[in-house]
Amino acid sequence: MSDTNDYLDLLENADHKKILNLREENRHKLFSRKKGYLSYRLPYESVCNLRASSLDLGGEVVRIGSADDLTAEEHQQVYRVLRGFMPWRKGPFQVFGIDIDAEWRSNRKWDRLLPILPDLKGKIIADVGCNNGYYMFRMAHFNPEAVIGFEPYHHHYFTFRTLNSFAGLDNLHLELLGVEHLPLYAGSFDVVFLMGIIYHRISPVEMLKDVWKSMKKGGTVLVESQAIPGDESVALFPEDRYAKVPGTYFVPTAICLKNWMKRAGFHDVEIFCTHPMSREEQRRTEWMVFESYEDLKPDTDGRRLSRAVAGLCQRRSITHYLQFLRQFREIRSTILL
Ligand SMILES: C[S@@+](CC[C@H](N)C(=O)[O-])C[C@H]1O[C@@H](n2cnc3c(N)ncnc32)[C@H](O)[C@@H]1O
Repeated sequence: MSDTNDYLDLLENADHKKILNLREENRHKLFSRKKGYLSYRLPYESVCNLRASSLDLGGEVVRIGSADDLTAEEHQQVYRVLRGFMPWRKGPFQVFGIDIDAEWRSNRKWDRLLPILPDLKGKIIADVGCNNGYYMFRMAHFNPEAVIGFEPYHHHYFTFRTLNSFAGLDNLHLELLGVEHLPLYAGSFDVVFLMGIIYHRISPVEMLKDVWKSMKKGGTVLVESQAIPGDESVALFPEDRYAKVPGTYFVPTAICLKNWMKRAGFHDVEIFCTHPMSREEQRRTEWMVFESYEDLKPDTDGRRLSRAVAGLCQRRSITHYLQFLRQFREIRSTILL
């Protein structure tokens, strides 16, 4: 289950020894007999010999193979395996003709990035918090040298491995590592995607400094985050959850995010998109049957949060503010050294 084509050969400044040690530790975990690992590894192993005859990575749906590539029995098996990887948060995918309508229509976020996307051809890219690899497949459309996904959860790891065993893209790699491991990758990446991560970190500026150090001179980072409205450089710090999501620490205004980035050492920081979230973009589907956007109502937690920032957006009514509860902000920055 290891990459035969090791991208580490491309990263001369990375700490190969420590990365290989961590990989070995992770391999032990992934191959352990614990039920939590087996319940994803065995399904992966049951289908990882199947290959897709075609790929379409240029459209909103990542298409891997067609129904004709498989026998009826194989098709049933793949369907069962893919259902076993629920909940599907990121997508959409079509795998051997099976449509996977994920909770997020991730193609919308990608469409927002497209106008400012740097040239990815031949580049070494990190996708931090890559989940099942939806964006990695979209990046592959542009022929990068290597895309390295950082994702610490084995559920997502095996989902990606399964998809890529069908797709057979040897320039896509996934490490069972987190953003906290970026210090092992000094001066390594031309482009870093840091999307949906920063508000989950207890020390966002420290993390941005780690991102900065992991990049090559002249590299580009694309940061995407939940945000709050307002013109002041402030961040919301929820007592516990934000819009029911646990593990949320600082939710910044766009200008605050920009300032964090500048303080971390980035130059030419540019806010290129802000928009409110919608139920068209995030919703419950047959492939993600749990709570979704429409359930994130202004409950007790939401009301408390909205009051906490009311003073910062005095010209907005609370109702107006709530529309922005899950607003996203995207920032592009280029290192100029
Ligand atoms: C909100 S999702 C964002 C996914 C994707 N980047 C996007 O923008 O749609 C956060 C992702 O980060 C992953 N994650 C959790 N802890 C992490 C860590 N310490 N480092 C990197 N990623 C992490 C989660 O498993 C999840 O896939």
